[in-house]
Amino acid sequence: MPPVAKLSINQNRLQSQIDELALISENAPPVVTRILFSEADLRARAFVKKLAADAGLHLRQDVVGNIFVRWAGQNPDLPAVATGSHMDAIPNAGKFDGVVGVLGAMEAIRALQRAGLHPKRSIELIIFTAEEPTRFGLGCIGSRLLAGTLSPEKAALLKDRDGTTLESWRRQVGWADGDLGSVRLPRHRYSAFVELHIEQGPLLDREKTPIGIVEKIAAPSTLRLELTGVGGHAGAVLMPERHDALLAGAEIALAVEKAALTSGSADTVATTGIFRIEPGAVNSVPCQAHLEIDLRDTEARTRDSALAQIERSVREICRRRGVTSDLERVATDPPVICDPKLVSLIAQTCSTLGVPAKRMISRAYHDSSFMAQVCPTAMIFIPCRKGYSHRPDEYSSPEQIKTGATVLAHTLASLCSAD
Ligand code: GLV
Ligand code: MN
Ligand code: MN
Repeated sequence: MPPVAKLSINQNRLQSQIDELALISENAPPVVTRILFSEADLRARAFVKKLAADAGLHLRQDVVGNIFVRWAGQNPDLPAVATGSHMDAIPNAGKFDGVVGVLGAMEAIRALQRAGLHPKRSIELIIFTAEEPTRFGLGCIGSRLLAGTLSPEKAALLKDRDGTTLESWRRQVGWADGDLGSVRLPRHRYSAFVELHIEQGPLLDREKTPIGIVEKIAAPSTLRLELTGVGGHAGAVLMPERHDALLAGAEIALAVEKAALTSGSADTVATTGIFRIEPGAVNSVPCQAHLEIDLRDTEARTRDSALAQIERSVREICRRRGVTSDLERVATDPPVICDPKLVSLIAQTCSTLGVPAKRMISRAYHDSSFMAQVCPTAMIFIPCRKGYSHRPDEYSSPEQIKTGATVLAHTLASLCSAD
């Protein structure tokens, strides 16, 4: 049983903060784009830091920009209870992905404060750096470094499209006051991590179930592919002489689709989300293509065999077309099983509150995937309309968000009172 009476979330304030944060974007509303190190990213950080300071909470930022908002418990030496999510947004995104888990958690903490709770354990809200892979092609950079699954050396050398490294960006924005190795969490810093997030799939919305409790997070992977063909005059180079990088890439994109469709698992999904060509002139044969491929499954085994199939296709297509390839596995992460005790606690909390809930799989990845390597971890999902996400019409209603924040607040109340 939660140790406090029903907590009240200030739905209006939470919604107006979500709306306000959505205006901090690289694009005009309703589009939200907030790419790591953009002016919008830096302004969003300032926005949330002000909210934390107004709530009287302690702030810390590590050298990769992960922000920690702490409400000190009566026994600050006990491992803290953590919650949180991200505020960065891919190009052409909506306003709820990640943000619900940041501002919803802040409101959950305020509700606990209003209820007069004196937490035994500290509660920490973590706002993770770069959950989205937009700038460096790798997602969850902040949480990977916290968990120690990404080495500081490799992280420092991550390069964006312009060739600027993470290390160089850190210096430019003034976060370089220490080595990236210092980001890694010490053992037993947290007793639990719970992330509130929109489902990003259609099930809760379709079934009109207000809460999803995540038991498993699917296994994502990312490939980066550089294709080098032979350019030339679009009028002068005859068809049998061509080594067109775009056409090799186009065949590969179809092979990526086929690898998912023929994997034998309905859970395999594959996307060629980035495809750029050089020189990009209508009267020039493309000499260079850059592709980034996202491949996932709920099971590592089927994901890995589809991955191997894609790699075979790349070799075969490039050989046949006389195009050279440089293929990199940027990330191949395992699926994550959420902590069964934490899943049960959230289920019990929903039942006590009279909120229907269902256990489910997350097909999207989250910072929780990496926090799970550091402490018991689980996620609370709320519905989003038609499952739309990573698009501007992503939508969860104020009531749905309030329900999620209420369940989170009660879960945190239980966890921070536990021995
Ligand atoms: C997270 O944004 C994902 O792509 O799953
Ligand atoms: Mn996302
Ligand atoms: Mn997200």
